[in-house]
Amino acid sequence: MDTTKNTSSDYHIFDVCSKIEARFAELYQYYGDIFSEDYDASKLWKKAALEEENHLSQFELADRLYRWSDFAVTVDLERAQRICKKMDMFLEHVRKVPPTLETALIKAIEMEEALVDLHMTTAVIFSDGAVQKLFKAMAGADREHIQSLKEYLTVINSKEYCINA
Ligand SMILES: [Fe+2]
Repeated sequence: MDTTKNTSSDYHIFDVCSKIEARFAELYQYYGDIFSEDYDASKLWKKAALEEENHLSQFELADRLYRWSDFAVTVDLERAQRICKKMDMFLEHVRKVPPTLETALIKAIEMEEALVDLHMTTAVIFSDGAVQKLFKAMAGADREHIQSLKEYLTVINSKEYCINA
C-alpha cells in the first residue's frame, strides 16, 4: 500500500472526504424522493443515504478526536478535492435532468466502486490499532452497500418486475 507519514495538513483529508460522503447522502436522499412511487426503490435509496451519513460521521469524528494522532493517508488529497467538485456538478445535473431508476442505479454502483478507497477505513490508517478497530466496527454494518444497489438493479431488470410495474 502506498502510504506516507502524516503531516500537519493531512487532517484535511477528513474534511474533504466528509464532504464527498455528504454529497452521496444528498444524492441518495434526492433519489429516495424522486423515486418515491416505487416503495422498495425509495426505501433502498433512503437507507443508502443513512449509510452515507454514517460514513460522514466517521470522518467528522476522526477530525474532532484524532486529527493529531499518528496516521497515514492512503489517498491523494487533490484527487479527493476533484471528486468533491465533480459530485457537486453531478448533483446539479441530476436535479436538472432526473435519471431513470436504472440509470441512477448503474451510475451509483459505478461511482461507489470507483470511490471505495475514499472511505474512512481505507483512506486513513491509524498507527493505534484500537482507533483503527473502532472505525472498522463503525463501518461494519454497511459492507453490503454496493451489493444492495446491484441486487436492486437485477430486480428491476428482471421480467417479474416489468410485469408488476
Ligand atoms: Fe460512502
